[in-house]
Amino acid sequence: MNFFQYQDNELYAEQVPVKQIADEVGTPVYIYSYNTLMRHFKAFDAAFASLDHLVCFAVKANSNLAILKSLAQAGAGMDIVSGGELYRALAAGVNPEKIVYAGVGKTQTEMEYALKSGVLLFNVESQAELQSLNQVAGQLGVKARVALRVNPDVDPQTHPYISTGLKENKFGISINQAIQEYQAAARLENIQVVGVHKHIGSQITEVGPFVDSVGKIVDLIKQLRGMGLDIQYLNLGGGLGITYDDETPPSPENFAQAIMPLINELGGCKVILEPGRVIAGNAGILVARVMYKKTTPAKGFVIVDAGMNDLIRPSLYGAYHKIIPLHKEKRPEVEVDVVGPICETGDFLAQKRTLPEFRRGDLMAVMSAGSYGFSMSSNYNSRPRAAEVLVCDDKYYVIRQRENFETLIQGESVPGFLQ
Ligand code: LLP
Repeated sequence: MNFFQYQDNELYAEQVPVKQIADEVGTPVYIYSYNTLMRHFKAFDAAFASLDHLVCFAVKANSNLAILKSLAQAGAGMDIVSGGELYRALAAGVNPEKIVYAGVGKTQTEMEYALKSGVLLFNVESQAELQSLNQVAGQLGVKARVALRVNPDVDPQTHPYISTGLKENKFGISINQAIQEYQAAARLENIQVVGVHKHIGSQITEVGPFVDSVGKIVDLIKQLRGMGLDIQYLNLGGGLGITYDDETPPSPENFAQAIMPLINELGGCKVILEPGRVIAGNAGILVARVMYKKTTPAKGFVIVDAGMNDLIRPSLYGAYHKIIPLHKEKRPEVEVDVVGPICETGDFLAQKRTLPEFRRGDLMAVMSAGSYGFSMSSNYNSRPRAAEVLVCDDKYYVIRQRENFETLIQGESVPGFLQ
C-alpha cells in the first residue's frame, strides 16, 4: 500500500498533485511519500515486535538525509557499507549504537572512522579483513565488536547480480569453514566476536530461501555457543522483495512468522534486520517528461528526460518499473520503448511496453523507484542529477536540489602546464 494514487484522474503524492511538483521543481524528479515510508517501516518493525530486535535500514537503498532522518526518528538504525554512508547516517542524527557496518572491502581509514564513532557491529567478510580490523582497533586501544558474515550457500532465486548467498559469490565466509574462522577470530586480541551475519540476496519473493538460510545460521549459532562463544546477535540481513509488476512477495508479517520459530530455538539472541528495498522502494517514484516521439520501421520510441544515469535498474538488471501517466485519460494503447537521452542503446526505462499513448510534453511516473533509484544515479553524459522531493500530507519539500553545471565540474582542475 502506498500513497501515490489517482484522484479525479490526476496522480497525487499523498495530497499533493504530482504535476504541481513536476511543474514547480522540474523534471526528472524523485518524489518520496513520507507517510508511505513510515507505514512500511512500522509494518516491518511491528512484525518483529515479539523479539528483541533492531531494524537497520540499508542506507544504500536511499541515502538522502531527510529519508534517513525520518527513519531514525521512527526508531530505525542503519546498515552502512562505507565511510560515506556512515557520515550520512551520523549527519542525519542516527545513534551510532544502532549502526552496523557491512561490506567486503572496508579500508583501514573507514574502520578507524567507524571505531571512533562507536558503531554497534562490524559485519566482517574475510579473515584478511579481520586481521586488518584487529590491527586498527589495537592502534586505537579499543575492541571491535564483530559478527562474521556467513555465506549459507542458499539460492535466493533472484537476479544473479543481486544474489549474494551462493558459494560462488564474493560475500562472506563459507558456512563449512565458519567454525574454524570463528575460532581464529576469537583468538584476536582486539576483536570481540559477538554475532553472526547473513544476507543472501535482494528482491527475494519467496520465504523458502529465508527459512533455509536462517535454519542453517541458527544451527551454526548453537554450535558456536556450544564452543563457549558468546553469540548475542543474529543479523539476518535484508532482501525481502516488493511488488514492481505482479510479484507477490511475503508481507513482513508472513516473513517474520516463517522465521520466528527458528529464532526462538536460540532462546535469547538480539535480532538485527537490514531491509532496504521493502522500506523505501514503493515509497518513491521518478517523474519524467516526454520530450519527443519517434517511430522507426522497427518500433516506436518515447524519448523522455530521465535516463539510465537517473535510474539504472532497467538497464543493469532488466528490471521492470511500472510506468503510468500523471494525467489519466482515454488514449489508444501502443507498444513502445521508453528511452532516455543518453548515448547508449542500453538507455531505457521500459522496452516493448504497452502503454496508453504518450504525447510530447506529457508527464509520466516511473513507479517503485524509492530504493536503488537516486542512490545509484550518476552524472554520465554530464547530466546534473535529479532533484529529490519529500511529500508529507499536503506539503512538499525539496530534499535535494537539482544539480547544475557548476556542481558538475566542482573539484576538477586543469593543471598549470595546460594553462
Ligand atoms: N544488507 C546487506 C549486507 C546488503 O548487501 C543489502 C543489499 C541489504 C542489506 C539490503 O537489501 P534489500 O533489503 O534492499 O534487498 N542495486 C540492486 C540491489 C542491490 C542490493 C545490495 N545489497 C537493485 O537495484 O536491485
